Amino acid sequence: MMNAAIMGYGTIGSGVAEILEKNKETIRKAAGQEIALKYVLDLREFPGSPVEDKVIHDFSVIEQDPEVELVVEAMGGLNPAYPFVKACLLAGKHVATSNKALVAAYGSELLEIAREKQVNFFFEASVGGGIPIIRPLYNCLMGEEIREITGVLNGTTNFILTKMDEEGWSFDAALKEAQRLGYAEQDPTADVEGHDTCRKLAILTAMAAGKEVNYEEICTEGITRISDRDFQYAKKIGMSVKLAGLSRLGKDGKVSACVAPLMIDKAHPLYTVKDVYNGILVKGNMLGDTMYYGSGAGKLPTASAVVADLIEMARHKDENVKMGWTLEKQELAPMGANEFRYFIRVSGQPEERLADLMAFGPREIISIGQPEEFAIVSKVMSEADYQETALGLEGILSVIRMLA
Ligand code: HSE
Repeated sequence: MMNAAIMGYGTIGSGVAEILEKNKETIRKAAGQEIALKYVLDLREFPGSPVEDKVIHDFSVIEQDPEVELVVEAMGGLNPAYPFVKACLLAGKHVATSNKALVAAYGSELLEIAREKQVNFFFEASVGGGIPIIRPLYNCLMGEEIREITGVLNGTTNFILTKMDEEGWSFDAALKEAQRLGYAEQDPTADVEGHDTCRKLAILTAMAAGKEVNYEEICTEGITRISDRDFQYAKKIGMSVKLAGLSRLGKDGKVSACVAPLMIDKAHPLYTVKDVYNGILVKGNMLGDTMYYGSGAGKLPTASAVVADLIEMARHKDENVKMGWTLEKQELAPMGANEFRYFIRVSGQPEERLADLMAFGPREIISIGQPEEFAIVSKVMSEADYQETALGLEGILSVIRMLA
């Protein structure tokens, strides 16, 4: 038998406790032994809950108990998650986390400590909720050079955009519902401003490159500027708008990465990723495309990925599994080097404005019958060229990059 402790009894932590109990026998068979929950660390009491007699408030109880070999971090945020996780690893305990903020900010250091201490620091649940993506990257795809990762990585924003697109919901109503369903971060700014997607993209890119990626260097734009009008235009040309993260390995060894709302064509595999679902398209140099799809947020899907990490730790209890990345930094290409076609919505009518727009090499003119505005789709341009061309142009109502 191995003893586990859960730090943080919120949405994910309580889900892990529930799965450990409900799937006890399956987990015992898979791990080769029972995984027993010994402690739940939280500031609150949980009277009447199944874990009420396991609740503790003092982290040092976990740190100093040699019987606890497996720890789940589901507190979220960096403080005290970071010092607690570091202390657990230094004490020779395995740690599984669902906390992408922690992995993106301190993953390199925590992975190093885990290697030194011959334990494991796993974070399958930190990207894509319940979707297997971290393990496929270091396991099934270990012989591949990963060329490109494109992902719809945030359930909350995908839920919001789907409701706006297909059911005409307002942004606020959709956000409230996502919060009620337990998808959103404690502060949903991280979801809607793209920060959550940015951290997940940094983790995936670091996994693919085997080097540290500084998430603060990834150009990130959220969904707050996307309007009903944009969706009407997108629909007219058979597209939708989704918040996506994109990273590409260039021939020079630099990675270009960005997070932005992207217009996605019906024919693209990510178009069908709707509601709270996430989808991640991975291009390998030999394999070509593979896509990973499933529940991207929520209690049991995310907790299921944490439980899989616990089982993997139990199977490798005396061994550090080779995975993750080193302290070496992955160089990122400047945002200006990224190439897109641009959806550009402008005021006025084509007869009077088209001459101003010729430098974008318009490939398509779109009208939804509004007398005061129309849109164009540009030729493929670098971000730097786009920015320079758009400089000083009046009447731009919205701009959305398009996924090729
Ligand atoms: N807030 C996150 C999301 C939770 O909506 O995707 C899962 O990481």
